Amino acid sequence: MTTDSAPPAARVELHPQTRAVHPAVPPLAGGRPLSPPLYQTSGFAFDSAEAIAEAMAGPEGAFVYTRRGNPTTRALETALADLEGGAAAMATSSGMGAISAVLLSLLRPGDHVIAQRCLYGGTFSILGDLAARFGIEVSYIDGERAAEVAEALRPSSRLLYLETIANPMTQVSDLPALLAAGRAAGLTGVVDNSLASPLLCRPLEHGADIVVHSTTKYLGGHSDVIGGAVVFADAALHRSVWGRAVELGSTADPFAAWLTLRGMQTLPLRMRQHCAGAAHLAANLAAHPAVSAVHWPGLPTHPSHQVAAKLLDGYGGVLAFDLAGGREAGRRFVEGVRLASLALSLGGVETLVTHPASTSHRELGEAELAAAGIGAGTVRVAVGVEHPDDLWADFDQALKGSECS
Ligand SMILES: Cc1ncc(COP(=O)(O)O)c(C=O)c1O
Repeated sequence: MTTDSAPPAARVELHPQTRAVHPAVPPLAGGRPLSPPLYQTSGFAFDSAEAIAEAMAGPEGAFVYTRRGNPTTRALETALADLEGGAAAMATSSGMGAISAVLLSLLRPGDHVIAQRCLYGGTFSILGDLAARFGIEVSYIDGERAAEVAEALRPSSRLLYLETIANPMTQVSDLPALLAAGRAAGLTGVVDNSLASPLLCRPLEHGADIVVHSTTKYLGGHSDVIGGAVVFADAALHRSVWGRAVELGSTADPFAAWLTLRGMQTLPLRMRQHCAGAAHLAANLAAHPAVSAVHWPGLPTHPSHQVAAKLLDGYGGVLAFDLAGGREAGRRFVEGVRLASLALSLGGVETLVTHPASTSHRELGEAELAAAGIGAGTVRVAVGVEHPDDLWADFDQALKGSECS
């Protein structure tokens, strides 16, 4: 298939599953490589000083220095913009590199941000830091009703920050309604789409201006690379955030970009299996006597089920469940799994479990945990692509162990 030379319209007619497998490969004289080549170089030599100066004009210019742009990184950016339906994309050194570049580019002292309460911890921390050090004010909303945006609005409101699927309790934001309310008030809508991936949701289609990703998660998919990305609805916004990211040094290394591109080619297959595995575990966990609640948007009992059914092309591979035995049962469960691993992160091919109350949130008491929407016995599962029966057999034996006194 011709990729780089194919007109955008022809690519758009293809399913995302097909487009993920065929990223645009820069053309070569003669045959072209099947896999995008890795340009592992920090810079590019020129014969004329004038040509270097011209190349430094902006993100679209010739490649000069890899912090500003690189053909491998560009191939990843083109593939990401294509899958998310954006005008342009920027690959970054991590998900936090993407989030911090966006926030530091768009916000000024005195600006006000409206953000969803259930946020990835790193995002919550940087918003707190910006508030303390630069006078940026932040109001948190539940993200369930569009009216919350209007209620939180101030004359200084500048940005609305949401996550498609929140971590760890898997609330799904009503993106079309919330983003429309933000747009009506002139806010820039930013959505972290890491847990959904562009295979399950494309927030730009629902009115977002910017999508951020931790490509460390599903896009890379193999727990072997740290990376991030920002995808823009508008090329002018890309140019201004790119300029700041180049100054901050948060753009991507070519090898990390290459690994991410390679991972992305199997994203559709992996996503299907993550979702199927999560459905199997969710159904079995819901029927288990040691489990008091299961949080997965595919279950009709989940508070976001209706929104998720409309918004998502699959309910995702992350789920959480509460053990009736509380904190001690949660700790015993995550130490008792044999096939799954006790580890942070998500989106890789292997199943990972964490117990927030004894790991990431161990400083919090029961009341503070409850305020964060997490129970003392809550376990978060990032479902991998193993056979669902093998996963359930592992969980079943670990649940038995979690009940022992
Ligand atoms: C939803 C979400 N966004 C952003 C990040 C940050 O990504 P990274 O670790 O690649 O910096 C994470 C990491 O866990 C995440 O879960």
